[in-house]
Amino acid sequence: MMKESSELSVKPIKCRNLWHVYPGGFTALKETFLEISAGEVVGIVGQNGSGKTTLVKHFNGLLKPSSGAVLINGIDTAEESVFNLSRHAGYVFQNPNHQLFATSVLSELQFGPKNLGLPEDEILARVEETTELFQLHAIIDDHPLRLSFPLRKIVAIASIHAMHPSILILDEPTTGQDHNGAAMVRKLIQQLRSEGKTVVLVSHDMALIAEVADRVVAMWAAEVIDSGTPREIFSNSTTLKKTMLQPPQATQLSQRLHGRVLPQITLTVDETIDALAQVADT
Ligand SMILES: Nc1ncnc2c1ncn2[C@@H]1O[C@H](COP(=O)(O)OP(=O)(O)OP(=O)(O)O)[C@@H](O)[C@H]1O
Ligand SMILES: [Mg+2]
Repeated sequence: MMKESSELSVKPIKCRNLWHVYPGGFTALKETFLEISAGEVVGIVGQNGSGKTTLVKHFNGLLKPSSGAVLINGIDTAEESVFNLSRHAGYVFQNPNHQLFATSVLSELQFGPKNLGLPEDEILARVEETTELFQLHAIIDDHPLRLSFPLRKIVAIASIHAMHPSILILDEPTTGQDHNGAAMVRKLIQQLRSEGKTVVLVSHDMALIAEVADRVVAMWAAEVIDSGTPREIFSNSTTLKKTMLQPPQATQLSQRLHGRVLPQITLTVDETIDALAQVADT
């Protein structure tokens, strides 16, 4: 038993030969063995329709395995309700319209903490902290569905964050966001990282992935085809070719300069500037 509990604390997400077949018969996920460690920030990348959302919807039980198993903090998702699983893993929908339902931003933020049965003062504290973090003061009484799409998305992230799950799953959090919205998402991820939370980030935004992910999981045609550090994945020509993913622009630039000007491949703009400055100084 001791062994099992220490194992659980290290790997809050485990997929054991997970398959998912949608009711019409389409196989959207095949033979997936994936483990995510506590405190890891994992980026899931792949073309449209490669199965990213299908995979992560298994992490809070919104989808159940057609075969194989998913264990979240040691709980078999096939045997647990979405409500109980969302205490562990909070999933922010790719489309906020599928998530938001309250009549004001305030009640949207209160809903999760209330349902967790938290005391009034704790609910208040969480709502205040979340309102501040996502700068929601000006829209706190607005109807979520009357907000712009990017703001709706921020409210959706905020309302899940207010539940303080130990695992947070963000499905395309920066889609449609302006600089400000994307900066908030980055800040949230860095905050969660410093708190030791586990973050699963599905994104087409390779610059964001390169900046925040410890590990990148690449999907293609319903399968996980590669997993490694952003540096490994973005320099693996076989994976890039197969998935048709483009590394961040900073990485593409450093790849062009590699061997002639730069001694290494860089991931972010800041890293590229530092590397170029070093070359200039020598
Ligand atoms: N409810 C459903 N019923 C049948 N097929 C579905 C359903 N939901 C998704 N699919 C199909 O499963 C495949 C994987 O979809 P999924 O949404 O997981 O992809 P994705 O990688 O998240 O794509 P995107 O980048 O566009 O969000 C797609 O071919 C999609 O059409
Ligand atoms: Mg998706």
